[in-house]
Amino acid sequence: MNVIKSKDVINILKRALNLIDERLINHGERVGYIIYKMMEYENKYSQQEMLDYTISALFHDIGAYKTDEIDNMIKFETRNIWEHSIYGYLFFKHLTPLEDLAETILFHHIDYNKLIKFRSKHEVISSYLNLADRIDVNKITSKNIVPEKFYRLRDIQYSGHALDLFHNAQLRYHILEKIEDNSYQEELNQFLEKSVFTSLEKEQFLQMLIYSIDFRSEHTVRHTITTVSVADQLGRLIGLDDKDTYNLHYGALLHDIGKISTPLSILEAPRGLTAEEMEIMKNHVAVSELILKDYIDEEIVQIAVRHHEKLDGSGYHKGLTASQLTLPQRILAVADIISALYGVRSYKTSFDKDKILSILTKEADKGKISAEVVDCVKKFYDTLMENVRSDCKEPLQKYAAMSDSYESLYNQFLELI
Ligand SMILES: [Fe+2]
Ligand SMILES: [Fe+2]
Ligand SMILES: [Fe+2]
Repeated sequence: MNVIKSKDVINILKRALNLIDERLINHGERVGYIIYKMMEYENKYSQQEMLDYTISALFHDIGAYKTDEIDNMIKFETRNIWEHSIYGYLFFKHLTPLEDLAETILFHHIDYNKLIKFRSKHEVISSYLNLADRIDVNKITSKNIVPEKFYRLRDIQYSGHALDLFHNAQLRYHILEKIEDNSYQEELNQFLEKSVFTSLEKEQFLQMLIYSIDFRSEHTVRHTITTVSVADQLGRLIGLDDKDTYNLHYGALLHDIGKISTPLSILEAPRGLTAEEMEIMKNHVAVSELILKDYIDEEIVQIAVRHHEKLDGSGYHKGLTASQLTLPQRILAVADIISALYGVRSYKTSFDKDKILSILTKEADKGKISAEVVDCVKKFYDTLMENVRSDCKEPLQKYAAMSDSYESLYNQFLELI
């Protein structure tokens, strides 16, 4: 079986994060590297602790998909920095194996003199993260190593301990020079390769990524969960072997990852899309390919990126035909349609069984989607959808709980800060 590697899970997340905003390209990696070297100098953390903290630093801005406040986040000028900090915290807390470290992300933009009031058990790393983030955003170089203005804010905005530690680590390891000539990347990757995730942990990280993209709109969250559930079940009913079952599952989980680049105004359009908007929407498949290629088994990538292809060549983005489309790819195409028809959108209700089956039958009759797969859907429709409902329950409750926590945390912080 082609198992996704731990380092590739990290790579996929890194690539996806780079799509948030071009000003933030490799920002997480540079911040992660700075923290890693600070901890190395300090020499009091275990390797596992260093790996975990470095990974949380790599993805500290994961909450930014959810926010339209990128400008403010980069400049760090308003209270809106809370938005992505809180979402990042919630994603880490609810969706990753590193839930214990979520607070480092929650506090990554808070001034040191306020941070200490929260008595977070990860206060020290939060203060490192805060400093590393500002060093990178302010484009501090080896020529202007931590300028005066940082020291003037000693123990006000920045922890004095973090400033001294960075200073010493910089002297010993030449951190900023390595960032400037990009040699930090190889060193960071070599370190990160030491991390080993269980298959459950890998799935959790990928899920976090997908949810953090999908969380921009509830229907997208529902759509992914439903698609994965339908695809898993159809694969089993049709009798795919273990390898194809595995590939189909991950292909389904990652199939809309490219929607990271689709503007919310299009994802949430309360109507059908214009031709121009449709082109932008269609582009999500190409973006998925860009994020996944080389890091994940080619068969999984192809399952993910072919879910809008049709057997008669009328689909996108390559216009492939039946002979080029494998059974797992055909299953995902059908699962994606079922999920879309079943889903509620602002301009459509959830279609009922008769309507869904009649649409699928018509599409199969026209030679667009697999008749074999559609027959299986018809035979097992009721159980299929009952299982979908139960599969969706927990993630949707989580979604609701996270949305609630977001509101209460946000209000709480506005009062405190
Ligand atoms: Fe941030
Ligand atoms: Fe940041
Ligand atoms: Fe799609």
